[in-house]
Amino acid sequence: MQPELGEPYAATPDTHVVPTYWPVPGAGVLGMNAFVIRAAEPVLVDTGTAVLSDEFLDALGSLLRPETLRWIWLTHEDLDHSGNLRRLLDLAPQATVLTTFMAVGRLMPGAPFPLDRVRLVNPGDTVNVGDRNLRAIRPPLFDSPATVGLLDDHSGALFSSDCFGAPLPSPELAAAHRADDIPPEVLAPHQIAWATVDSPWVTMTDPTALGHALEQLRRLEPTTVLSSHLPPIHRGLDRAVETLRTAPAADPVPAMTQSELEELLATFEPPKETADV
Ligand SMILES: [Fe+2]
Ligand SMILES: [Fe+2]
Repeated sequence: MQPELGEPYAATPDTHVVPTYWPVPGAGVLGMNAFVIRAAEPVLVDTGTAVLSDEFLDALGSLLRPETLRWIWLTHEDLDHSGNLRRLLDLAPQATVLTTFMAVGRLMPGAPFPLDRVRLVNPGDTVNVGDRNLRAIRPPLFDSPATVGLLDDHSGALFSSDCFGAPLPSPELAAAHRADDIPPEVLAPHQIAWATVDSPWVTMTDPTALGHALEQLRRLEPTTVLSSHLPPIHRGLDRAVETLRTAPAADPVPAMTQSELEELLATFEPPKETADV
């Protein structure tokens, strides 16, 4: 399987998912979601990957004309979130980027970033987008210190960035439109594995402190939790919170070794043009 865009779909009546499916050798398929909030002032949350730039912009274009975007909420600067940011700045000249100073700073070494296109948001800040307020939150788990998620006070959707994500064992499960439909005995161990890989510090974390952060998130009573790396959670937040509570005691997933990589490469088909050489 090659990385590919999925068909956009609605997670709430006014929130659409633009999914990318990314195969991870040995782990399954990791969803990489961007989101469109059909607010009075349209918002894009994260910007997909650069290697599928045309496909991403086509998928986005099936939901709205990019030039109508007013806001781009960048949850953090990782390449699976910021891949099309600079292209979108050209395509959406009215769009302002909502993110943290840390995210801008971490983008800068890649290429100059127009600071006049940025409005900084930090956890607790609120941004009005015409018919609703978006409240910035820090998810309990993250892989970049720049991370800032958000709660949409109109739809009740909470965008948790990398938190609650999981690679899933089959393309079909990764392409589900509801995480609630994934069997708990499949979902929970993959969420734990992701937590220990994406936020490896979680195994050094005080379980009480992490539990407090998870409880604070649960008390926001989101209608839907939209992770960047999982199908939407509609009713399974309690279960996901209880799963992540156990992450500090989890055994970290070991990193791939060089010999494992070589075994993996040996299974790949040679490129067509050299297959007969
Ligand atoms: Fe990340
Ligand atoms: Fe990510």
